[in-house]
Amino acid sequence: MLEQLKPQAPDKILMLVQMFRDDPRSDKIDLGVGVYKTAEGLTPIMRSVKAAEKLLWETETTKSYTGLAGDPAYGAAMRDMILAGAVSNDRVSAAATPGGTGAIRQALELIRLAAPGATVWLSAPTWPNHPSIIKYLGMPMAEYRYFHEATRGVDFDGMMSDLRGLKAGDAVLLHGCCHNPTGANLTLDQWKTVIEHLQKVGAIPLIDLAYQGFGDGLEEDAAAVRLLTSSLPETLIAASCSKNFGIYRERTGILMAVSDSAKGQPVTQGTLAFLNRQNFSFPPDHGARLVTMILNDQELRADWKTELEEVRLSMLGLREQLASELRQRTNSDRFDFISRHRGMFSRIGATPEQVQTIREKNGIYMVEDSRLNIAGLNAKTVPILAEAIVAAGV
Ligand code: LMR
Repeated sequence: MLEQLKPQAPDKILMLVQMFRDDPRSDKIDLGVGVYKTAEGLTPIMRSVKAAEKLLWETETTKSYTGLAGDPAYGAAMRDMILAGAVSNDRVSAAATPGGTGAIRQALELIRLAAPGATVWLSAPTWPNHPSIIKYLGMPMAEYRYFHEATRGVDFDGMMSDLRGLKAGDAVLLHGCCHNPTGANLTLDQWKTVIEHLQKVGAIPLIDLAYQGFGDGLEEDAAAVRLLTSSLPETLIAASCSKNFGIYRERTGILMAVSDSAKGQPVTQGTLAFLNRQNFSFPPDHGARLVTMILNDQELRADWKTELEEVRLSMLGLREQLASELRQRTNSDRFDFISRHRGMFSRIGATPEQVQTIREKNGIYMVEDSRLNIAGLNAKTVPILAEAIVAAGV
């Protein structure tokens, strides 16, 4: 049987991790996978996470199963952090999932179960794992324009024009903040226009929220999600704690489904638990428990917010520095979009050949579509990157 298997195409982001490891150059720079790094190139465990782990080690008395949807306290803490009362709690269902990817997968399965044949609309471009999972599940998929190659901003006219093709019951996957891979984001006014259209058509948003706190701030990054949720009858939210709590390997995510009334909530909640049972039974608990402890403890929460804000500001500083280095070298403002983008990533608009040249000549690794991870830089490597970008003719 196993000899029938065909090799799978490698994931374009994860492939870079190995290529980078195999590169013997000591001055190589990794701007590939979306992992936060300090100026020293480390991905540290956050202070609050360490403190919560210590406390957990001292106080945890059992490793027995939680519930199929995870610990309800985790669901409540995440709901409050993301939605902050944007809708009444009795409309919200929540289930812990293995990471944000697990939440996306469960959301797609929920859509397929509730509305077989519904089309899932994706931004062009989007995180490559979105179309990959949808294709794997055999669900109909369509794209809407999102990125304006010339300005490296949002192609909002193109987006709205493509979304005119939406049908009632379709799902639209939207990045709640910090668009991956482009770094270009909608303004609140543009979000309002999208919401009006979804209302008119009767389509449901599936919001991928993997970078809350990495863009404009913890509350600011949730503004679009809150607006969508309070304006529309139904919303799906797939959120990740990998980045904002720095607990990548703990696989800590959540799927929230907002029903149009409290009456529909129990069936939705039961379905989330059912879907977890079918796919992996109980979700991982360690990361979720740490997050719950941090969010529910005044001191730990304050320290976490301080550290998260330091992370966010360090990325903003690197954006400013890179844009300024490029302004000097090109005598133009054509790379200023880098300081306007938000989150970990910017798509700089290099061709795959230029990306390859930069990798081979300079040992700088970015994704083939020219997405670079801003957090992979530091004050010393920013000028090196700027030089390489200009030399490659981007
Ligand atoms: C990324 O986009 O680099 C991250 O979300 C990591 C991943 O799994 O691709």
